[in-house]
Amino acid sequence: MASEPPVIDIHTHIYPSSYISLLRSRTTVPYLLYPFEKGASPRLIILPSDDDSSLPPESRGRPIDPSYTDIGVKLKFMSNHHITASVISLANPWLDFLSPKEGPKWARMINDELEFTCSRDQGKLWAFATLPLSASPLDIVTEVDRLQTLPHIRGIILGTTGLGNGLDDPNLDSIWAALEEKQLPIFLHPHYGLPSSLYGPRASEYGHVLPLSLGFPMETTIAFTRMWLSGVFDRYPKLKLLIAHSGGTIPFLAGRIDSCVKHERHFPEHSNEYGEKSRGPERSLDRVLFDNIWLDAVVYSETGVRAAVDKVSYKKVLFGTDHPFFPPLEGGAEKWASVETNFDAVTGGQDNAGSRAILGGNAIELLGLEINPGEAENSP
Ligand code: URA
Ligand code: ZN
Repeated sequence: MASEPPVIDIHTHIYPSSYISLLRSRTTVPYLLYPFEKGASPRLIILPSDDDSSLPPESRGRPIDPSYTDIGVKLKFMSNHHITASVISLANPWLDFLSPKEGPKWARMINDELEFTCSRDQGKLWAFATLPLSASPLDIVTEVDRLQTLPHIRGIILGTTGLGNGLDDPNLDSIWAALEEKQLPIFLHPHYGLPSSLYGPRASEYGHVLPLSLGFPMETTIAFTRMWLSGVFDRYPKLKLLIAHSGGTIPFLAGRIDSCVKHERHFPEHSNEYGEKSRGPERSLDRVLFDNIWLDAVVYSETGVRAAVDKVSYKKVLFGTDHPFFPPLEGGAEKWASVETNFDAVTGGQDNAGSRAILGGNAIELLGLEINPGEAENSP
């Protein structure tokens, strides 16, 4: 029997037990809220909008169940969805909220736990590490260096705030340099969304819809655009950036961003790489998208996947699920509609070669994954 092509999920989160103990010890966001009601699940309060004291405790944030914490549940989910291997990452808000002194200790603990978890399921699990971003750049680079000793770590996950001033902060340069030198891909993921005033006074009537569907993608779009505008990719031309949710709105807005730069007097005119007159960063947006940017396929539509492929090529778009977020609201379903929608968005809009690349081949190549031939039997 010919083995099926592998399906690799590169966007799948976990809260390791060390992180849960950290959340349990806190009373401000992020934290775990225990409703008074007997038998009610603890609530995960992570987004700024989750901590709404006008709502009863059992309606704040979201219920946290073992799918957030138990790797066995994730392995079962993978099997149910014919996912050959997963690249797990700590879910938001990572370690952004810790003091500079606490950050490095927790990063070591969590990265070691991720490594241990992956090592027990050889060929099925890899991970993106987390960095102690509240610490000094030197401490952060020390953790990047240490990751070389953890063989299942194949990149890092990063929020959009960097050291506190966003990803165009020049103080990040030593970190970009270390990640570029080690060729560790950066998985850029949102958490903070947009200012809640934009969602209006009725926002709580709409649950998480506005922050997750619109706030998250805009946050990522702005973070990447600031990186590009500030010349990060001119200074670090070999940086590899994998952007969540198909790049937010980057594929759709790239033309507008580029046009605004070309019409901005603030930027002096210079000759670009083709000898043409240009403004803004040395390396054009299209060049950076083509050379430095990978996009996940967590966009829930064929149109979104096509736009991503159009901007960065089908060789640089990667399947993901965002598990354990977006579960079926009625418990018990083995197949998750959110996963199937993303799967169909790839296979429905791409030819066979494109689908195979996006579903697994591109992750294997970007992250150097060694898939056991036996593991591919888990594939569709
Ligand atoms: N909601 C989150 O808070 N994080 C995710 O990754 C997805 C949904
Ligand atoms: Zn996610």
